[in-house]
Amino acid sequence: MSKVQIISIVGTKGGTGKTTASHMLAHGAALDGLTNAMLVTTDDREILEVDRRRYQIYDCRGEAELIDLVSALTTTDDFAGWTVVLDGGGNRPAVDDLLVQISDAVLLATRDSAEDLRQLIANLAAVVAEEPDAGGPAVRRIYDTPKTLVLPLQWPAAPNARADADRRLDHYLGLLADGFVGPGRPDPHRDLLGPVSVGRDRVLPPVLARRNIPMAFLEESIGALTPESNAACRELWAAVKAALPATA
Ligand SMILES: Nc1ncnc2c1ncn2[C@@H]1O[C@H](COP(=O)(O)OP(=O)(O)O)[C@@H](O)[C@H]1O
Ligand SMILES: [Mg+2]
Repeated sequence: MSKVQIISIVGTKGGTGKTTASHMLAHGAALDGLTNAMLVTTDDREILEVDRRRYQIYDCRGEAELIDLVSALTTTDDFAGWTVVLDGGGNRPAVDDLLVQISDAVLLATRDSAEDLRQLIANLAAVVAEEPDAGGPAVRRIYDTPKTLVLPLQWPAAPNARADADRRLDHYLGLLADGFVGPGRPDPHRDLLGPVSVGRDRVLPPVLARRNIPMAFLEESIGALTPESNAACRELWAAVKAALPATA
């Protein structure tokens, strides 16, 4: 039986659309075939009603529940064959670091505003203290692994605006590759860890355009999803699936 496939959607910026995208991804994975899909919620917001949807919700708003789930995912076959989408709560780097470590793919969400993009590159360059017995440097990057992909959310759909947004994203990824974590802000860890290089191949297509997402996903309680909603979920899942590491 195939192993569990774990995808996390993270990023410290709030309101980018992570929760919306997480639900849509889990639903899209379920629509894609026989896969059992599960959405894991880790922040402390109200949980959406998903009665009519094809995926299940696993409530990990409590730290103990999250630790139990991580242990089940990493040490048992209980979730073999499942696609598990972990919705990061935002602004909790320690939780995000845990999610990143157990994930097959990590989607770092960003919108196209300068503030989002600044936070994106700060996230990509972020470090955590390394375990003392790990033998390496005292810190390591959280997101600087090939499994981390940039997930553009609420991207403009109009061609000119989209081209502007793409250029802005390239500009910020270029700063990062040059060893800066913001305009004029050198990355304090570049000498020790090297600069972070994230190329265009690590940026997912901007499937969820601004205001293009089905309203059903923005509401707390919904009925059956419309064909448009299902199509949007399939499209998001297809984009992520195409970019998943081959081993996942
Ligand atoms: N593609 C989109 N277009 C327009 N608004 C969106 C889109 N995705 C999300 N939103 C809006 O942004 C708000 C925050 O979305 P949410 O998924 O809760 O973000 P996060 O989990 O990153 O904080 C939602 O209430 C919704 O109004
Ligand atoms: Mg959220």
